[in-house]
Amino acid sequence: MIPPRIKYKKGELDILDQRLIPWKVSILKAKTYQEVSKAIKDMALRGAPLIGCAAAYAYVLGFENKKFSSSTQALNHFYKIKKVVNSARPTAVALFASSERMEKKVKEAIYSKDSLNLKDRIYNAVLSEAKLIEKEDIDSTISMAKFGTKLLRKNSRIITYCNTGALATMGIGTALGVIVKGYELGKVSFAYACETRPYLQGTRLTIWELQKNHVPSALMTDNMAAHIMKTEKIDAVIIGADRIASNGDTANKIGSYELAISAYYHKIPFYVVAPIATFDLSLKNGSEIKIEERSEKEVTEIRGIRIAPKGINVRHPAFDVTPNSLITAIITEKGIISPVNSSKINSILNL
Ligand code: MRU
Repeated sequence: MIPPRIKYKKGELDILDQRLIPWKVSILKAKTYQEVSKAIKDMALRGAPLIGCAAAYAYVLGFENKKFSSSTQALNHFYKIKKVVNSARPTAVALFASSERMEKKVKEAIYSKDSLNLKDRIYNAVLSEAKLIEKEDIDSTISMAKFGTKLLRKNSRIITYCNTGALATMGIGTALGVIVKGYELGKVSFAYACETRPYLQGTRLTIWELQKNHVPSALMTDNMAAHIMKTEKIDAVIIGADRIASNGDTANKIGSYELAISAYYHKIPFYVVAPIATFDLSLKNGSEIKIEERSEKEVTEIRGIRIAPKGINVRHPAFDVTPNSLITAIITEKGIISPVNSSKINSILNL
């Protein structure tokens, strides 16, 4: 069993500290919205859907026991929280989607005619919205696994990237959810987890989840993928997404694009599994997606030990964008998008 990733109880959000997995299962207690935002920024929790859920609970903590003398004061407090939450990480759209949903609920609560006092109206509204966001996330993972496994032949051998499992969501995961469910159904016989340099989500998290779910699997370094595709039978590459533009261009962990090119060359289907909350229809294409640049230390150090010489230049874009032309299908909780283009996306999203 994968331990609960986040758990809200009055006064705190318990966060499973993913920086310590697989060595230690440890809970970080965030007592304020600022602490939740810091936990997101510092990668104590990560994965687009989970970031969205945690962001929602940041608002709950922010409005707990908070009294206001006027609607304006309450609204200003909301914007103070939003500024901090939205600055945690830029690429995963789920974080911003949670903020937008919270803004709507806070405004409704402020201007509602309900006889309850202002403080309780807002708190109740943000708490029930956070619970709804969490529930929708759980339900969507189950539905994506249903659709995703339909695309797989019996005994498929899969390559996956980064961590898209239970650890990245409140449910069973996106891409890894399909793989684990696929194994239960006899659709998956083996999974390769790429280590996912530089932050090593594959090495630390994905292979741990595969092991815990008893899925026959192996860890490989990212630069082994093309060789494995050429020399072994690989039936599909399955990854998650952080933000998808209206034409289907998909931002995901750095290295996803390279994997898509290799899959295309070897004629292997390349699937993206992502809830509809991952689509950002305000963007025409992937060139408009903001790519997070993270600390160079994540490249030059491993667990605090420097592995590169001092005084060098380092780059660390944490995400890249795979063009729609390299994606065989996007699997959402509403259905399968294939071919990947604007009109097919609209038809599935409007179902
Ligand atoms: O930097 P991370 O670990 O938050 O990046 C995670 C990914 O890139 C995942 O593939 C993506 O969020 C989809 S998770 C279901």
